Amino acid sequence: MSFRIVRYTDAEQSTSFRGTRVTKLGCYGGMEIRRYEMSKGSILSIDGTKGSGNLRTYAVNSGSCLVVETGEFLGQGDILLVGTRAEYLNLLFQADTVLSFQGLGVNDFHETANDLENLGESMRRIQDKDAYTESHCKRVLSLVAALAASLGIGGDRFARLTRAARYHDIGKVHIEDHILNKPSALTDGERARMREHVYLGGELVKCSFGPLVYNVMVEHHERLDGSGYPLGLKGDAISEDGRILAICDSFDAMTTDRPYRAALPVEEALRILESEAGTHYDPVFTAAFVRMARSDSGGMDNQGS
Ligand SMILES: [Fe+2]
Repeated sequence: MSFRIVRYTDAEQSTSFRGTRVTKLGCYGGMEIRRYEMSKGSILSIDGTKGSGNLRTYAVNSGSCLVVETGEFLGQGDILLVGTRAEYLNLLFQADTVLSFQGLGVNDFHETANDLENLGESMRRIQDKDAYTESHCKRVLSLVAALAASLGIGGDRFARLTRAARYHDIGKVHIEDHILNKPSALTDGERARMREHVYLGGELVKCSFGPLVYNVMVEHHERLDGSGYPLGLKGDAISEDGRILAICDSFDAMTTDRPYRAALPVEEALRILESEAGTHYDPVFTAAFVRMARSDSGGMDNQGS
């Protein structure tokens, strides 16, 4: 083969979910070629420790993203080279972005596609059933990503934490509509059933993301003083990532309209978080979250969307 034109329209395989599309254009001479179309706010986690010896390139055709681990931005025309002894990297997209990918000796598209399709299907079901939960998960993802980046969290921990955030309430797909959408207070039985969403969600992602993401998802309603659920864990028994997710989850829940109450203003929600730091929420992470919220729009700009 002396030359060949690879056209997007001839793509072998494509998978997409809510504005994120990954297309395999083909594999030639051991080099896999893909196109990533990433929506603003989404994250691409690259496990550079996998397939060592393989060179991979990600070229930005349009848009921009932040390399979480280094704090550097990639813009149109920039190329990220992932070499043979790479670390785990996360790209956080600042705008709708198109990337061209080339990977020598890379052949794991089916894994990427399966994960996206399985999770995409569950998220589609939750969107049909409960649009609030879907949009809530998306906003909590933005908040967690911004807070984690400000705390210097990167690598596989960032990937796990943001995945837990994106899917933390996905278990509600199994909760009966009359409980999920009840405008008045839940009975004790209904509340117990609703609380099962943490385990149901964890089970849905365990296969794709593993036990560490499961644990963080299951902990998102635990509170420092043991008043949370499902286990009533106290203090350090709750993982740091579970404590981070709890803060972002509560903030978003407070600042959006619910059938049983109107959204609180941002400043009032921040004051509540501060007043419950040490009893419900981790004081160090709460202080970092409040600082981030008051200093700029980091992660807050899609509140209410
Ligand atoms: Fe929840």
